[in-house]
Amino acid sequence: MDIQGKTALVTGASRGIGRAIAIELAKQGVKRLLLVARDTARLAEVATEIQMLGVEALTLPLDLSEVVEVNIAIAQAWRDYGPIDLLVNCAGVAHQVPFLKSRLPNVQAEIGVNLIGMYAMTRLVARRMVAQGSGTIVNVSSLMGKVAAPTMATYCATKFAIVGFTQALRCELAAHNIRVIALLPSLTETDMVRDLQWFRWVLPTTPQKVAQALVTGLQRDSPEILIGWQSHLAVWCNRIAPWLLEKILLMAAPVSNNRLLRYYRLTDARAISR
Ligand SMILES: NC(=O)c1ccc[n+]([C@@H]2O[C@H](COP(=O)([O-])OP(=O)(O)OC[C@H]3O[C@@H](n4cnc5c(N)ncnc54)[C@H](OP(=O)(O)O)[C@@H]3O)[C@@H](O)[C@H]2O)c1
Repeated sequence: MDIQGKTALVTGASRGIGRAIAIELAKQGVKRLLLVARDTARLAEVATEIQMLGVEALTLPLDLSEVVEVNIAIAQAWRDYGPIDLLVNCAGVAHQVPFLKSRLPNVQAEIGVNLIGMYAMTRLVARRMVAQGSGTIVNVSSLMGKVAAPTMATYCATKFAIVGFTQALRCELAAHNIRVIALLPSLTETDMVRDLQWFRWVLPTTPQKVAQALVTGLQRDSPEILIGWQSHLAVWCNRIAPWLLEKILLMAAPVSNNRLLRYYRLTDARAISR
């Protein structure tokens, strides 16, 4: 995709990876950016930074879990600032907890933003892209959308779902000249992971590097964009020897690694004795 002179809408643009993507797209020549997130003040800061690069930036303060409000705002935005050529679904929520201690409200928040929010935004924009006969949609999944990790079960579930959703839409919308891409970052230094316990041996990257990888992937028409050699190695290992990767993940798991091992041994023993 040639992003020169295009209009892009980025969700999760107030901070982290979404913010970096919006700024990188501005640097690489998009004409107009529509920035979506809840935090009005942070969105305004990002918009100012983008305007200083000579690119038009508009803020759309929205909670993606409020589907009716999102419907109205996107219809208005398309009328006033459309057509939108590129949609980047980046907003996301993650909760890290051993599954047996997980709480339904956190799971509902992950599903509400990561899946329902993304679904609602994509449907609104994709229908209009079909009418205009072109467009590109980027769905931000994660390496955890390919390789599931202990303590992140429900987050992984949403990110695996995004990969499946993206593959299905890619086939379905190709006839309408709409490309659908999955971006799969690995550990990236943002607010999201500040309070998480990191997996051992995983090398973090920066939001800027993720944004640059996206722009390169868009230029190359890549259907899936993995970031960093560790991600490629993990996905490859998961294909060739999933049992080995599971062992490594168990050793790398941050939360009570020994307790997890003991827990699994105990449940194995109980299962055998039944
Ligand atoms: N960081 C990582 O290691 C990593 C790795 C792989 C994938 N990812 C994915 O990358 C994406 C961005 O993550 P990040 O690390 O940049 O996280 P982040 O720094 O926590 O940013 C999350 C963004 O999502 C927005 N958001 C959250 N809830 C929202 C809601 N209800 N309505 C609208 N916007 C909402 C936030 O804006 P407001 O708070 O202003 O609403 C913020 O802009 C996510 O999809 C995440 O799963 C991250």
